[in-house]
Formats: sequence, structure tokens, C-alpha cells
Amino acid sequence: MTRPRVHVSGKIPVVVTEALERDFELVPGPGGADGILSLITTQVDADYLDGAGPQLAIVANYGVGLDNVDLDAARTRDVRVANTPDVLTKATAELTIAVTLSLIRRVAEGDRLLRSQKTWSFSLDFMLGEGLQDRTFTIVGPGRIGRETARLAEAFGARPVFAGRDDDLHALLADADVVSLHCPLTPETHHLIDTAALAAMRPSAVIVNTARGAIVDETALVDALVSGGIAGAALDVFEHEPRVSEELLRLENVVLTPHIGSGTRRTREAMGLLAVAALRDVLLHDRRPANAVV
Ligand code: 8YV
Repeated sequence: MTRPRVHVSGKIPVVVTEALERDFELVPGPGGADGILSLITTQVDADYLDGAGPQLAIVANYGVGLDNVDLDAARTRDVRVANTPDVLTKATAELTIAVTLSLIRRVAEGDRLLRSQKTWSFSLDFMLGEGLQDRTFTIVGPGRIGRETARLAEAFGARPVFAGRDDDLHALLADADVVSLHCPLTPETHHLIDTAALAAMRPSAVIVNTARGAIVDETALVDALVSGGIAGAALDVFEHEPRVSEELLRLENVVLTPHIGSGTRRTREAMGLLAVAALRDVLLHDRRPANAVV
């Protein structure tokens, strides 16, 4: 019996490859594949789907975000699309808190200072930061990751506030001490945080982005950081990833990490195995995966 053909668009954990090899023939390109395991750096648009061919039945995206997949193009070609929710919720929320604390307690900045070997000495007013206790922690996008981040922030004494799509975002930004982004990148949320949104924030407030870079207008963000419009930013994602604006690299009031929100070995393996389960559902059992979005 011939096994369904699956193309994997990038490097994945060994256990995930082994799981795929048990049921599928792995093929080097998308052309002729029955299923595709796409990394979020692969643009799965109409041309890509047409290049794969009409036999393509499923695209399983290795991530919860689906902005790299043209869902309408998949729908019109009868191609199922699945993502990897839930298994990365805790890891991503945890990184959100990690970079937030690193920013407001100046952990990365202090590390840079010591590595620069500049002279320093302890004093009571040296490198003071802010804590989370009694701070208003505003979650833009109250989905799974947003709600888990709120739960963790609350454990640090912060007061979580949720900003959903029907809320007055600028009014909520005006009251926030920390603004943390957790919405998907869609045409509606592209540059949701623009010059006007940043202007609505307090000069003492910080912004945290572990969602998608293009939710923030990076040029406007740099302007706000340089002019003192806001106090700082912790960014795990970038508008033109993997490129990071030169200006951001030069600012002290910024913490930068290289898109590692879901980056624990266990989480990345769980994501891959969830994607494999979706490929199996469609290609071996002809059923809709629980994590199908199309
Ligand atoms: C990446 C993410 O997918 O799930 C998402 O949307 O951005 C991350 O979890 C992950 O780095 C694997 O590509």
C-alpha cells in the first residue's frame, strides 16, 4: 500500500520526524504532497498551494499563529488547515512574564552593564526598576495565551485587564502600566499599536510583544521609545523578522529575544506531535482534526 506523501518545510525535532516516518513518505518539496507540515516562516499562499497540486489535502502549521497561511486560498481549494494551540500556551505566557520582568526590573540591562566592564558600585538608588505588584497589566487579545499570562501576572500581584476587539483600546491603554499583546496578526490587528495607540499610553508604561511583530508599527514604537512617550518595550517578535531595527538594538530600555515564546524542547515536540496527529486524521482516517481551523 502506498503511504501518503508529506512535505516538511523546515527543520523539526527528531521525535517529530520519527513520528511522521511511521505513517508517511517524506518528500523533499511541496509538489505532489498530500500533506504539508509548514513552519511559520513558510508563506503558504495561493501559489504555494497550487504548486503543491490538487491532491493536497491538509496543511498542518507548526505554530498557533496562522498569519503565514492564506486560509481563504486553502478553503477554496478544499485544503484543510490545522494549527497547534494549547500545548504552547504555558510556555508562551511564561516567556511573556520573563521578558516583562527582565525589562521592568532591568535584568538584561544590568547584565549588559556588567559585561561592558564599566565601573559600578552598590548604592540605594542604583538601577532602580519597577515591580508588578499593584500594576495594571493590560492584555490585548484575551485568548488562551492572554488569559494564562493574566493568571501569571496576577500571581505577581498585578491587576489584569482584558482588551478584546469590542473594547475601547485607547481608553484601556491610557490606564495600563504594562501592555501585553496576545492577539493574532490579521488585517484588523496589523499596526494595531500605531502612533496614536502609543500616544494614548502613559510615559511610564511599557509594551510587551510575544505575539507577532507587525501588530506594532515598529517605526512608531522606536519614536515613542526615543522621545519618552513610553518607558520601554520587551519584544520577542519583530515587524520584519528576522531583521531587528538598528534603533531598537541601540536602546537600553528595550529587551529583545529571538521569537522563543514556545521555545522549550517539550513544547516544540508537543506542537510537532499535535501537527502530526492532524496529518494522520486527514490522510489516514479521513476525519476532521480537533485542531482544524479550515
Ligand atoms: C512558533 C509561534 O510557531 O505558535 C506560534 O504562532 O509563533 C511560535 O510558537 C514556533 O516558534 C515554531 O515555529
